[in-house]
Amino acid sequence: MTNEDPASLAGLAYFIRTFGCQMNESDSEHMAGVLAQAGARPADAAESCDILIVNTCAVREKSEEKLYSFLGRLAALKKKRPGLIIGVAGCVAELRRDELFGRKPGPDFLVGPDRYQDLARIVARASLARALETGRDDVWHEFGPSAIVRESPVSAYVTIMEGCDNFCAYCVVPFARGREKYRPLPNIIREVEDLAQRGYLEVQLLGQNVNSYRDSETGISFAALLRTVAAVEGPSWLRFITSHPKDFSDDIIDAMAASPKICRALHLPLQSGSTAVLERMNRRYSREHYLGLVGLLRKALSDLSLSTDILVGFPGETEEDHRLTLDILREIRFANIFSFRYSPRPQTAAAKLADDVPAEVKAHRLIEVQALQKSIQLELHRSFVGRTLTVLVLGASQKGGCLLAGRSEGGQVVNFVPAVEGIGRFAQVRITSVGPYSLRGEEVRQA
Ligand code: 5AD
Ligand code: SF4
Repeated sequence: MTNEDPASLAGLAYFIRTFGCQMNESDSEHMAGVLAQAGARPADAAESCDILIVNTCAVREKSEEKLYSFLGRLAALKKKRPGLIIGVAGCVAELRRDELFGRKPGPDFLVGPDRYQDLARIVARASLARALETGRDDVWHEFGPSAIVRESPVSAYVTIMEGCDNFCAYCVVPFARGREKYRPLPNIIREVEDLAQRGYLEVQLLGQNVNSYRDSETGISFAALLRTVAAVEGPSWLRFITSHPKDFSDDIIDAMAASPKICRALHLPLQSGSTAVLERMNRRYSREHYLGLVGLLRKALSDLSLSTDILVGFPGETEEDHRLTLDILREIRFANIFSFRYSPRPQTAAAKLADDVPAEVKAHRLIEVQALQKSIQLELHRSFVGRTLTVLVLGASQKGGCLLAGRSEGGQVVNFVPAVEGIGRFAQVRITSVGPYSLRGEEVRQA
């Protein structure tokens, strides 16, 4: 395959629709890069493209449902424009290969995460006959630095590892993304240096389990990687997602404390406040361990902003387990949470258990979690009123007007009246009013 001439997609317009996490967003940027290198250009909308790729996540049932309804609409589009090439990428392509490929009318090609480098050739072939390009392997696939079309000129994703070896009982990721693979350290550093040269102000290191990173050549750990990346001159803010609480070692805390460039913000998925549930989920930490870790982190890193994932309604979850989750939310007071209703996923250990928490109970528990968190966030946000925060200016605000939007070091969305124009800079913003999900303020004019 690699010996073939590169495929030419000159003159064709592509459109990539992404569902899912940052990892998927980053994958879409890589796919766009491969298509652009083959001569294709981005289309403004799905209606005006020649190549349409749906990049989907399989983690939750809901994302898959979104894909199927999207594919339904695409069928109509294809009827109108028979030349349109439709592909499905990502975890779902890997996981639901046979089902998707068997659909009529189905996508013209399926491409799994380990095949993205060959995307241009796959698209060229799919214009002649349907193509199935899935399957995992255990080698790291490197993209050239130019093979990325980044959505943001300000904040960049840098993938450091892929896959997961943890097998949490509810989670499909180890089956969809395969076992852990680590990107060689020199490649990571080269990409960060390249971003520095292009003026990026923030780098977000990505992986399903960033803190189990090991450089295969040197054995260098995630903490050492953090120190090395933080030493690259240029990007002022460094973040990393996602960390597993069981692997969050003291040396990572030390590396964070040693560098002011590493944002005082951490996403640390908890899932449940009940040790019994955590055990059945195979998370391999207890409620006490998690609380102890939060204590250590907060002691070492003042003003640390913590966010988490909460999963309600796991098989066997009792009212008492649920109460323990609400209690721990009150105790920790996260800056932000992502909360989900459990749904069984194919191949996972939990799929063999009875999904015994009734749908209405799951719904009620989710509402309780979200209502509690909303009130906590509102209180936390109120404490920001009158304070001036450093904000990385990312773009126009969704609130409209002349407002700009950015993110604080703690990860809060800040909409503000600018004192000067332009994005891709740091602004000092005095917070004037708040809601549970964002802050509002005015840029302080610099002397
Ligand atoms: N059902 C519901 N939510 C899930 N998640 C993972 N698997 C499932 C599932 N089967 C959630 C977890 C995880 C986040 C990315 O998605 O909270 O941290
Ligand atoms: Fe899924 Fe658990 Fe791996 Fe996270 S650590 S990707 S929840 S199996």
